[in-house]
Amino acid sequence: MGESITVTDNRTGASVEIPIEFGGVSAAEFSKLLPGVWFYDPGFTSTAACESSITFVDGDAGILRYRGYPIEQLAEHSTYLEVAYLLLYGELPNSTQFETWERDITYHTFIHENVRKRFLEGFHYDAHPMGMLVSAIAALSTFYSDAKQIDSPEVLDRQIVRLIAKMPTLAAAAHRFSVGMPFVYPDNELSYTANFLSMMWKVAEPHYQADPALVRALEVLFILHADHEQNCGTTAMRVAASAHSDPYSATAAATAALYGPRHGGANEAAIKMLTEIGSIENVPAFIEQVKQGHGRLQGFGHRVYKSYDPRATIVKKAAYDVFEVTGKNPLIDIALALEEAALSDPYFIDRKLYPNIDFYTGLIYQAMGFPMEMFTVLFAIPRTAGWLAHFKELLDQDLKIARPRQLYVGAERREYVAMQERPTT
Ligand code: ACO
Repeated sequence: MGESITVTDNRTGASVEIPIEFGGVSAAEFSKLLPGVWFYDPGFTSTAACESSITFVDGDAGILRYRGYPIEQLAEHSTYLEVAYLLLYGELPNSTQFETWERDITYHTFIHENVRKRFLEGFHYDAHPMGMLVSAIAALSTFYSDAKQIDSPEVLDRQIVRLIAKMPTLAAAAHRFSVGMPFVYPDNELSYTANFLSMMWKVAEPHYQADPALVRALEVLFILHADHEQNCGTTAMRVAASAHSDPYSATAAATAALYGPRHGGANEAAIKMLTEIGSIENVPAFIEQVKQGHGRLQGFGHRVYKSYDPRATIVKKAAYDVFEVTGKNPLIDIALALEEAALSDPYFIDRKLYPNIDFYTGLIYQAMGFPMEMFTVLFAIPRTAGWLAHFKELLDQDLKIARPRQLYVGAERREYVAMQERPTT
């Protein structure tokens, strides 16, 4: 007999024995004992909403694996497109599979001219690129009449290829529009990341070639951001997918969740914080202020990681590779001093607060010339692979539509009052 717990209803004396499987217990078993009683779990801190075999995170040990492969090995040896394939199809591709995959993605990098002319260029001149991205992704669903055929694996795979292929094109187009620069068409001679940098920075040169060290650094950042199990954006994706929305609309929902400053916007907040601190001498006073409850250390702490975020270790190293090419971002010295001070302070030690991935990514993006508004966009591009892997997994599992219960705390029944009879104050 495996592990189990026995729960007794003290009102009736009835009890049920519930097996513990994969570290969890089934709410459905509890419900047999407690019909009409709901589990109250805002923020889903104690609720697993699905089984998943995509990403493993052990927050206490600082472990992150995609399909079983340690993130450190993938960041060192792999490419973003290979990792995307791994997340989506469960195995690393062989050379034939990868060739086909890369060719398909490259073939689909162009967007319909009307997506650019009617949608992207229709935005107000100072539109935030993340807002443009959310809308453009949703608009894509109207350009592909087969988007709704999610029960056909071949047709769904076609939308997946389109989405992964077009994200960099949409992202760069949103940036170019927001700074008044002309749209740059994809250069299909280039790799996925090199092509993105070309669409971002090309001016008048016939063929833009980014520095290989910057291309590799971006590749590593894309690998690190490709998935992170049931975070807020992925949950939004799964909820929309559970209603059988098409993959474009569901990806737009996930991107909208990522747009929030508590989620994908923390790297921007970290840069603002480091800029505000201004110099190493101000670090102790800033730490004191945070300990007094005024604000938080941005890029510190994590719902799951209660030790060093393994991605932060890799990003910290990548930052130095980038600075070799771009010159040092002066904010790195403040970041290092802040990290050192926090990691030796009982306030942060007791609460298990360590740097997360966002603490150092902004420094890299800034050194590479990306404006702050693009930081969350740079997160959304690679996360698309993870979101779509969850979309596929959910359909394969044939899950029920997501529909949580609520604990109603509002008014009791009352009668409608005509407007002229309502109090005026
Ligand atoms: N700086 C200072 N104190 C902190 C911080 C921080 N960054 N994070 C948590 N704490 C403190 C809280 O004040 C609280 O202290 P208390 O117990 O005395 O009240 C305790 O640590 C626990 O904090 P919670 O908010 O309950 O932790 P939770 O798991 O809900 O929050 C979160 C996680 C949102 C990431 C939080 O650590 C935070 O706000 N960090 C800063 C923002 C950030 O970096 N976000 C990026 C997350 S990674 C990502 O989305 C890719």
